[in-house]
Order: sequence, then structure tokens, then C-alpha cells
Amino acid sequence: AAGKGYEEERLKSLSAIEKAIHQCRRCPIGELENQAVMGEGPKHAALMVVGEQPGDQEDLAGKPFVGPAGQLLDSYLVEAGIDRGQVYVTNAVKHFKYVQRGKRRLHQSPTAKEIDICRWWLDGERELVQPKLVLALGASAARGLLGKTVSITRARGEAHRLEDGSELWITAHPSYLLRLRDEARVEQERLFRADLAAVAERLA
Ligand code: URA
Repeated sequence: AAGKGYEEERLKSLSAIEKAIHQCRRCPIGELENQAVMGEGPKHAALMVVGEQPGDQEDLAGKPFVGPAGQLLDSYLVEAGIDRGQVYVTNAVKHFKYVQRGKRRLHQSPTAKEIDICRWWLDGERELVQPKLVLALGASAARGLLGKTVSITRARGEAHRLEDGSELWITAHPSYLLRLRDEARVEQERLFRADLAAVAERLA
């Protein structure tokens, strides 16, 4: 749970969680001009993919992974033979954290504390969806699932076990790939593909 004062009962449906996250002010991110973005996908998906937080486009659309990182993710899912329509896609943090620079809203990473507070909602989604496999995209997602910070380099490429028995795989965030150039990009794409292929194999 999110710590003292939040020992309330788990919500019993995804729609109840969706309603509640829109009102959530447990951390300051919800005070910005944004909207909560709920996870999306089949209620009992075998695979849950977890990102960091909605970006600018996701905040405007109210849907996870629809912007540039989402498009890159989609192309890798297709390549791995994973149907996004069968995946429950969500984020560790439900609101978009940003700083305003003129007309642009620049992404800000959530703090460990913010991720830990928002875990209440991610745990609720996991409890209801009960995926067999969970794929964390990046360090914020990994923290939202494990409650501690891990190194992607060390944690990737092997299965981890979550407390409910589901299997956790950890890989890089697609936005990280988008920022790389040349050989670094090629190498990270190779690792990302290999991680998705491992997940696809476990799903089959
Ligand atoms: N990046 C994320 O981590 N999540 C999204 O939903 C979009 C971009």
C-alpha cells in the first residue's frame, strides 16, 4: 500500500479504479493540468505491459502509449508476434508530470516517492487483471512493480517473480531507445527485441 493513512480497501473493478485515479491527489502530480490515464486492455490479459507515466499525447488522448514511444512499442510488439489488443497496457504513475516551457510541456521523471504512492493503483490493476506475465518498461515501471530501484542492465534477460506468483520481465523504456543514435541504438534495439522475444515465448 502507499503508506500510512491509505489503508483503505482495494477497489473491486477496473472502472472503480479509473474513477478513483481521476480524483487522486495523493501526490502533487495530480494537481497539474492533466488527466489521469487508466490502463487499457482485456480484463484478464495474460500479459501486462507497464510504462512509466503518460506523456503529453497520452494525457491529451486519455490513453496509454499512443505517442512516439507507444508507436515504437507497437512496432516491436508486432515483430515479436504479440497482439497489443490482447495486452493490458498501463503505467506506474497515472498522471503526466511535466514542466511548462512556453507552449511545450516537458516530461519530468516521477520521484521514487511518487512511484511508490501510485503503486496502490498499479497493485489494484494487477490484482484484478491477474496477468501471468508482466513486462516493465524502464526503471520507473520496475520500481512500481518491485517497490525498489533496480538496474535495467542487471535485471533484464531473466524472469523475476512477483509476490502473487506472476512472472516479471524487465526491459528498457522505448523512449530511451528513441534518444539513442548509431551503434548505441542498434545495440539497445537488439536487447529490446530479445527481451520481447523472451516474453512472447513465455506467453505461448
Ligand atoms: N511513456 C510511458 O511510459 N507511458 C505512456 O503511456 C507513454 C509514454
